[in-house]
Amino acid sequence: MKYQIRKKLIIFGAALFLFRCSSDQKKNSMIDTKNTTINKKVDSLLSKMTIEEKVGQMNQYNGFWDVTGPVPEEGNAKNKYEHLRKGWVGSMLNVRGTENVKAVQRIAVEETRLGIPLIIGFDVIHGYKTLSPIPLAEAASWDLKAIEKSSRVAAIEASASGINWTFAPMVDISRDVRWGRVMEGAGEDPYLGSKVAKARVKGFQGDDLSKNNTIAACAKHFAAYGFSEAGKEYNTVDIGTSTLHNMVLPPFKAAVDAGVKTLMNSFNELNGVPVTASKYLQRDILKDKWNFDGFVISDWASINEIIIWGHAENKKEAAKLAATAGSDMDMEGYVYVKELANLVKEGTIKEEIVDDAVRRILKVKFELGLFDDPYRYCDATNEKENIGTKEHHDAVLDVAKKSIVLLKNENNILPLKKKGQKIALIGPLADDKNSPLGSWRLGSDDNTAISLLEGMQNYKENTLVFEKGVDLFNGDVAFTQQVHVNTTDRSKISKAVAAAKNADVVIMTLGEHGFQSGEGRSRTEIDLPGLQQELLEAVYKVNKNIVLVLHNGRPLAIEWADENIPAIVEAWQLGSQSGNAIAEVLYGDYNPSGKLPMTFPRNIGQTPIYYNYKSTGRPNKEPHVFWSHYIDSENTPLYPFGHGLSYSSFEYTNFTVHGGNSFSVNDTVKVSVDLKNTGAIDGKEVVQLYIRDLVGSVTRPVRELKGFELVPLKAGESKTITFNLSKNELGFFNNDGDFIVEPGKFQVFIGGSSITKLEKSFELIKK
Ligand code: NOJ
Repeated sequence: MKYQIRKKLIIFGAALFLFRCSSDQKKNSMIDTKNTTINKKVDSLLSKMTIEEKVGQMNQYNGFWDVTGPVPEEGNAKNKYEHLRKGWVGSMLNVRGTENVKAVQRIAVEETRLGIPLIIGFDVIHGYKTLSPIPLAEAASWDLKAIEKSSRVAAIEASASGINWTFAPMVDISRDVRWGRVMEGAGEDPYLGSKVAKARVKGFQGDDLSKNNTIAACAKHFAAYGFSEAGKEYNTVDIGTSTLHNMVLPPFKAAVDAGVKTLMNSFNELNGVPVTASKYLQRDILKDKWNFDGFVISDWASINEIIIWGHAENKKEAAKLAATAGSDMDMEGYVYVKELANLVKEGTIKEEIVDDAVRRILKVKFELGLFDDPYRYCDATNEKENIGTKEHHDAVLDVAKKSIVLLKNENNILPLKKKGQKIALIGPLADDKNSPLGSWRLGSDDNTAISLLEGMQNYKENTLVFEKGVDLFNGDVAFTQQVHVNTTDRSKISKAVAAAKNADVVIMTLGEHGFQSGEGRSRTEIDLPGLQQELLEAVYKVNKNIVLVLHNGRPLAIEWADENIPAIVEAWQLGSQSGNAIAEVLYGDYNPSGKLPMTFPRNIGQTPIYYNYKSTGRPNKEPHVFWSHYIDSENTPLYPFGHGLSYSSFEYTNFTVHGGNSFSVNDTVKVSVDLKNTGAIDGKEVVQLYIRDLVGSVTRPVRELKGFELVPLKAGESKTITFNLSKNELGFFNNDGDFIVEPGKFQVFIGGSSITKLEKSFELIKK
């Protein structure tokens, strides 16, 4: 009988396998047919185009409303309209709203000779109108489904507003908290960064790009922009091949494997070559080695900047270098439109280079369905009905809660009691409805976030008083302007201190304004800006029962707070639902589960500090001074990568490497651990797995994240968590950029942060 059942199960399993294979084959062959059809259409259109029309497809202009970069002399509306009508523009950015998009699309489709539709790009970075947490915060959720959903919501809203291409995800790995743009990425780790890149690409592009609610994604900034020297914006980058291949490139490769349609290059140079002119990156690696068949857009006027870097003499040379290197589209640079046709006519550039770029661009336009209906993203009813919906607000609230990281919680000061408490809410950001929206949110409206004050007011059975304490700024703050931090006006501090004296618990909301991080916002100090530290210390003198809620777009150095304040909550900039999300966590209606995607330094001098560092030749503390350290600071970070607490507690037992401790380099090594929620309430833990390859032909980091799982557990519940380490996890890129797995000894670590002590070892031997 048993045998009969087993036999039936085997037959069923085999049938299912065959069905799956055949349906996969069917899907693949449908994709092949679609590609062939599109390629034919592209070729046929290309054969009708003049050289000027081809170059026009490689030209992108900024629209007439928002600006996200310096406006060049030629960038006046008269020139733009004239060029649009001639068919010299293939794309526009910063045009939004169905009416506006329709207006420019109509010119391209109805007034030009070939009627080729525009592709409309926009920085949809963490939501369009309804805002999710900033990307760095979302990465702290380690919840790939929630991240994908957040990008999906962004795509639905942006596409409803006429946009069909986002300049996201930013997948730059960065270790330098001084760099303002760390807020836009997924932090310091290439493994987590790759998973998040894939989730975001899937969220934006969906399963079918030709639907009117999916948009093309753009992995940026290719490459190494996150390694700008000293964290200074737009600075030079000088890194070795090992860092390039093992740290910088993996998230881009993950995005390409996930089917990302476009990449954006960047403002930095890499080892002496401005990357916009880098053939090595764009042609050799991206298009040849990785077989990327989408297109590459320059960053804003970065083709011009090849000249300013001192790598090309003039626009003509810059155009030649960029096009030859594989930069397919010129963003607001006016270089291709001015130079490229002549360069081809005089024989300096082969027409095939232009044809290759145009083919790639047209292909994406066909895939988006723009040739079937150029106005498919311009439906005013869709725009009215699908932006800012309750469902979207629920989704961003969900991911906002998941992004919060509980950094410290002594004496169980959190969660707060719901009744009978006098609470003083203090700080310049507590009633701010703008700052929690973060940077890069041009499609949204100012002052639309739920502030923490509003979120706290939902809990009515406590007494709540609010005092600002200090203002963060003198005057207003805006996306394109420098911020002027208040360092002199202390007039409100005494009122805040009085409120604190009277309270059972003080919630202090301090940190950076949403526009103190982002593009052009590098900082040399990373403590609490302005008078906030002074305010914190003044309040602490009268009431030590403080919960510090941080708002920030980058890790901050808060060593004093860590030493003195009993509870610290990392609340980043959480988007439209910020205050509701934080209040739910403070009151325990949501049990926090976020983990840091970036190391928190103790002080600015430790920067760059990251968990996957190299051993050095002298790593160990010695009685003398001749070891790798600072004489005035510890080597350890304030909070390590992967750190985050919960209101539950978790116990790890039975850590096992299965199948002995010696494996062939081709084997998959299975490891497992039992996780138990030993707390009194249900919670979630991000189980993290790290490896160390002890000896490498290229030295390996002391730890490398190679697996993680977000595990929900009821109070008292246990679960066995299993990881499989294959070649992909155990290998690395050598200095020629080749992926290799080397025999030798490995350590493997499992736990709830990158400094976990649970350790096992195994060896890989030659086959
Ligand atoms: C410059 C930024 O570096 C890039 O990320 C952005 O997409 C473009 N401006 C367009 O706004």
